[in-house]
Amino acid sequence: MSAGVIAKPALARKSMALRGTVRIPGDKSISHRALMLGGLAAGRTRIAGLLEGEDIFSTARAMQALGATVRKEGDTWIVDGVGNGALLAPEAPLDFGNAGTGCRLTMGLVGVYDFTTTFVGDASLARRPMGRVLDPLSQMGVQVTSAEGGRLPVALSGPKTANPVSYRVPMASAQVKSAVLLAGLNTPGVTTVIEPVMTRDHTERMLQAFGANLTVEAGSEGERIIRLEGQGRLTGQDIDVPGDPSSAAFPLVAALIVPGSDITILNVLMNATRTGLIVTLQEMGARIDVLNARIAGGEDVADLRVRSSELKGITVPEGRAPSMIDEYPVLAVAAAFAEGQTVMRGLEELRVKESDRLSAIAAGLKLNGVDCEEAPASLVVHGRPGGKGIGNAVGAAVATHLDHRIAMSFLVMGLASEHPVTVDDTTMIATSFPEFVEVMAGLGASIE
Ligand code: S3P
Repeated sequence: MSAGVIAKPALARKSMALRGTVRIPGDKSISHRALMLGGLAAGRTRIAGLLEGEDIFSTARAMQALGATVRKEGDTWIVDGVGNGALLAPEAPLDFGNAGTGCRLTMGLVGVYDFTTTFVGDASLARRPMGRVLDPLSQMGVQVTSAEGGRLPVALSGPKTANPVSYRVPMASAQVKSAVLLAGLNTPGVTTVIEPVMTRDHTERMLQAFGANLTVEAGSEGERIIRLEGQGRLTGQDIDVPGDPSSAAFPLVAALIVPGSDITILNVLMNATRTGLIVTLQEMGARIDVLNARIAGGEDVADLRVRSSELKGITVPEGRAPSMIDEYPVLAVAAAFAEGQTVMRGLEELRVKESDRLSAIAAGLKLNGVDCEEAPASLVVHGRPGGKGIGNAVGAAVATHLDHRIAMSFLVMGLASEHPVTVDDTTMIATSFPEFVEVMAGLGASIE
């Protein structure tokens, strides 16, 4: 349940065929980065399609506290930046609420400055490990104070001059990669990040677009070697944020499992580091047509037509995990309606998301009559085609643990299950997809 906000439970019930065309909100990862680089760069950045969710507002407030001007004019967000190297010391702790990406990337962005910045967040963020970002920042010369186990609240005091490092990212994490690169912006010389497994590359793309001298090279073992020259000039840009594939995933899976559905989702980001769920569902037999594939704002974008499908369980290749890391909760819901078993491995990172997602998914599935086996880094889901026996007839609620994606995933489950599905709280949905209930209702979903 939510800390400080009154929990708002909701119930989803078996719905008629979903129909219609929807536009989903802007990509969360790109929205955070657009505000950060816009706030840092010299001159004006105009952002269209920015996600207007709580996580992004936390980043916008942080950038204002660091000296940037952020405002909305019509549908466009206007950011006037301070110029690379010129962030100001914030007067109060930066409160990132539920936003892990905002918090970790800003730690990199401002941690190397020669002043002290304090980071706080909600109960979910305060449980999440920050050591993965604090370690490389310490190597760059940053003094770190944190609560036990490298957790929030964290205070960072940068050195007079930061050391450029060569850092091999020890886990598949775009946040860690990005934090080190952003720290490299205010560090003399070349900062190198070695990424053994490719993760979302929005930071690299956007840094190049703002004028940073950043190169990416393949190493002898297939690792990515990213080099950034520090203290270069960044110039404000016009950014068009495409729709978030991690949000599109909810109407998409809903349309697959609700019989007779036929929907179209417009303007979805199709960057290959983000499309693992679509590929996986297609392997399971999903009818997803990729329409109008195009490039917009330097990113691949397309419209998706999704029709209800008879899904079959598969073993999801472990190496695909980074390209669908936020989509496992909703994939588990699709798997619950598939014939046979779906095996998901390489899920250790799910334990440190907004909640321990692996245990939250398993508990929610079991509560709603779906057999599954949870192991430290894997999940096997035994499907019940047609949704027979799925749901909770007495209204017992799924525990969402302050996790927006757990809430949305289980509400999607209820749209095709025999019995309704209840979740204990929906307030956190506002962090990433504030219009979720309206968008789903517009397609014909029954969520109350
Ligand atoms: C994100 C990276 C991923 C993802 C998160 C957004 C980003 O986290 O789960 O929702 O924008 O860089 P990790 O870097 O921890 O895998």
